[in-house]
Amino acid sequence: MKVDVLLGLQWGDEGKGKIVDVLTPKYDIIARFQGGPNAGHTLEFEGIKHVLHTIPSGIFREDVLNVIGNGVVIDPVVFQKELEKLEPFNLNIKDRLLISKKAHLILPTHRLLDQASEEAKGKNKIGSTLKGIGPTYMDKTGRNGLRVGDIYSPNFEQKYHALVEKHVGILKHYEGFEYDLKDLEGPWFEGISVLKNLTAIDSEQYLDKALKAGKRILAEGAQGTMLDIDFGTYPFVTSSNTVAAGTCTGLGVPPTKIGNVIGIFKAYCTRVGSGPFPTELEDEDGENIRKEGREFGATTGRPRRCGWIDIPQLKYAIMVNGVTELSMMKSDVLGNFTKIKACTHYIMNGEKIDYFPFDVADVEITPVYEEIEGWNCDLTKLNSFEEAPQALKNYVTYLERILEVPITVVSVGPDRTQTLNNKK
Ligand code: GDP
Ligand code: IMO
Ligand code: MG
Repeated sequence: MKVDVLLGLQWGDEGKGKIVDVLTPKYDIIARFQGGPNAGHTLEFEGIKHVLHTIPSGIFREDVLNVIGNGVVIDPVVFQKELEKLEPFNLNIKDRLLISKKAHLILPTHRLLDQASEEAKGKNKIGSTLKGIGPTYMDKTGRNGLRVGDIYSPNFEQKYHALVEKHVGILKHYEGFEYDLKDLEGPWFEGISVLKNLTAIDSEQYLDKALKAGKRILAEGAQGTMLDIDFGTYPFVTSSNTVAAGTCTGLGVPPTKIGNVIGIFKAYCTRVGSGPFPTELEDEDGENIRKEGREFGATTGRPRRCGWIDIPQLKYAIMVNGVTELSMMKSDVLGNFTKIKACTHYIMNGEKIDYFPFDVADVEITPVYEEIEGWNCDLTKLNSFEEAPQALKNYVTYLERILEVPITVVSVGPDRTQTLNNKK
């Protein structure tokens, strides 16, 4: 058996939560491998909308186990709130959610450091979700961090205070930055006691056994490829490896055990936070997409920047992830355009290029578009891809030809049921 991977190919919010939920019945285990509560994964079914931040998107399907891997960072406060929201649904979380002992903890001071660092950056800020993600991963690689397994140790509080002391020392360098740590610590320790009641595992051992027992596993990514710490639009990125390789380090799965890599993208493109976005539309078309697609952040509520699909960017993401199949999301959102556009290449320093350049954050690049017939109709009630308007079918064929990967799923609305299979 192999581990399939599902991840975002753009700047996040592609609809990963929805598709993980749709695919979950085919799997025994869903495992998150990186990121933390900066993620907001939305699932809609039976008239209810759920937003998950740390808990994998397989949690609503009975009999499926959900694993939070070592590559994830957990804020006990956000986590407790997430659990409380799920309580009315009787999901038997205690037996169905397993957490890696090696996952790192977000401390209240990590959140403060994130905030202080962003404020100090002024107009150069990353646009972080302010959830403490960057400082927590910095402590992980700096070998200072606290992990879930540490909460069972008798000297946990001592370790906590030692790290907080370091953070307080750093915070002193941010002149004028004020905070009240005492208010934040109570809820944090309450969250720790909630975490203690759940099952902590060694995810690498657990998943190895599961694979040997023939279990089917889907790894769920967070953020998107262009927010990857190595391959994204650095420095406007998150602090983890969001790409397929992150599955290996974030769960303890060997590279030889990776199966299908399912890449998710929107029929257009969005980004929330700062940083380069070559196909961004700051006009009526962009406003139209934002309105129709309800493009506001699931975690922060910020308006998402909107633009046309970017083929060189997608090709790059497909390459670094080794994508084997694609899901095209939010096709219905373009329903009132008679013409849509796809960026086929860029002009940089007067030269035509068809790759994603290193210095995209510093150099002006102008996207060059191909105009494509829009479907200009409501897709949300379609029951099968065969019934889809020819213009949508042509768009799918066009993208498959240019991206050289099959599009197996076309999504036409936020609900679980608004998902069309395009099986070859
Ligand atoms: P994720 O972070 O990748 O899981 O995506 P988010 O949940 O942050 O953002 C995706 C948003 O689009 C959510 O509000 C989803 O409910 C919604 N969504 C997902 N697929 C579709 C679709 O095909 N059409 C429409 N209109 N909305 C969708
Ligand atoms: P999901 O999993 C979209 C963005 C932030 C910011 C940058 C760094 O829902 O797709 P961070 O808080 O990680 O330090 O922020 O990354 N960002 C996301 N954008 N979707 C997400 O997650 C994101 N998680 C982080 O807006 O620009
Ligand atoms: Mg999201």
